[in-house]
Amino acid sequence: MNILVVGVGYVGTTTALLFAELGWKVTGFDTDIHKIQALKEGNLPFFEPGLDTLLDKHVQLGNLSFTTDSAQAIRGHHVIFICVGTPSQADGSTNLTYVQKVAEMIGDDMESYKLIVMKSTVPIGTHKKVCQWITDAQQVHLPFDVVSNPEFLREGSAVHDCFHPDRIVIGSDSETAAQQVSMLYKSIASPLVMTNPTTAEMIKYASNAFLATKISYMNELARLCDQVDVSISTVAQGMGLDPRIGRSFLRAGIGYGGSCFPKDVLSLLHTAQDYGIDLNLIRSVVEVNNTQCQYFIKRIRSKLGILRGKRIAILGLSFKPGTDDMREAPALAIIKELLGCGSFLKVHDPVAKLPDGLKTHAIKQYDTIEETLLSVHAVILCTEWSDYVKGDWKAWSHLLKLPYLFDGRNVLDRSQLESWGLNYTGIGNG
Ligand code: UDX
Repeated sequence: MNILVVGVGYVGTTTALLFAELGWKVTGFDTDIHKIQALKEGNLPFFEPGLDTLLDKHVQLGNLSFTTDSAQAIRGHHVIFICVGTPSQADGSTNLTYVQKVAEMIGDDMESYKLIVMKSTVPIGTHKKVCQWITDAQQVHLPFDVVSNPEFLREGSAVHDCFHPDRIVIGSDSETAAQQVSMLYKSIASPLVMTNPTTAEMIKYASNAFLATKISYMNELARLCDQVDVSISTVAQGMGLDPRIGRSFLRAGIGYGGSCFPKDVLSLLHTAQDYGIDLNLIRSVVEVNNTQCQYFIKRIRSKLGILRGKRIAILGLSFKPGTDDMREAPALAIIKELLGCGSFLKVHDPVAKLPDGLKTHAIKQYDTIEETLLSVHAVILCTEWSDYVKGDWKAWSHLLKLPYLFDGRNVLDRSQLESWGLNYTGIGNG
């Protein structure tokens, strides 16, 4: 079976490389000619550790090719993965335009049976719509199956997550189609969850919303911890040892961002609303996340007083380390708030670049951490890149004009920093 991956963005490129590495012949299709050209030349259009090496290898070996010719791509492949974007609309619902276009393209160009696999995160119930769009676009009736196979990889560790997934979820109404998809993953030893398409779609949203809930839960408790002089990190440690709770995703901070959690949680709320269900808990998860940066700014103001005219260093722009992705990054919310207060910002990130829309005379990005920290009244850590966590804070403390350090990710060693004369403030540690 040869595989066509439609949409070579983040998920599509990673999926294509996974299957190339597993020994399948893969073609990546996209309408964006620049993206396709870059990939043909072995250049990733985004930053992801380890993926560039895989791309180079499989382009050289000829296991992975790229095209912008849709008709030829669809005719030449038996298995088609849909990996196009599903952005949020203003009301929180999901824009399925790209998915619909691909479904119609497949229906229009197919000349034999196709096994279509949905990787894009799509609202619960989309499977039925995709089948209908394909059928409507067909000139003559030809059989096909649409299987839901959601993706759970994390940015920054995409390569590891792809080859060692916690589970592979396959949702299909046809047992044969489900077996064929599971065959593609045969060399990966991860638990398989075989179910129907709607349940597979639900598993994806339920997982992301649960992880977001864990974060907002800790962020909300962190606010109480600040009042009662308790460290939320120690609370997390004490909680996490209970295997029923688990250690992960209990780190309080300035909130979750990225291309998935914010969008998926809103989409789940929206879908539920369509069915007349008000997901109160999930609504609160969004509310806590939306106000967490303001809460942090309040803490900063309580230490620094007036923010107007203060020079502040921002360490980290991306929504988390290991990626240049700034979509819904809490750092951007903090930057906007501080610029609005009249602060002057010196910004650093090892990979991400300040978006054009934020560039004003009051903000500048620097290449080195030292330049960024020089003569500032305060430092705010927004992304826990190891360059910052393992940095030489003893030396850096001498560069600052005032010693205020605000740790938006609760990752720095407070007592050590205080021994070097820094005035440390985290989130949820009194
Ligand atoms: C997430 C899911 O983890 C992944 O399974 C899904 O496929 C896509 O969405 P990703 O967005 O890459 O992955 O990032 P993740 O590592 O989950 O972090 C999301 C956000 O939560 C980040 O902003 C991170 O800083 C924040 N976070 C995470 C916390 O604030 N506290 C934590 O304890 C963990």
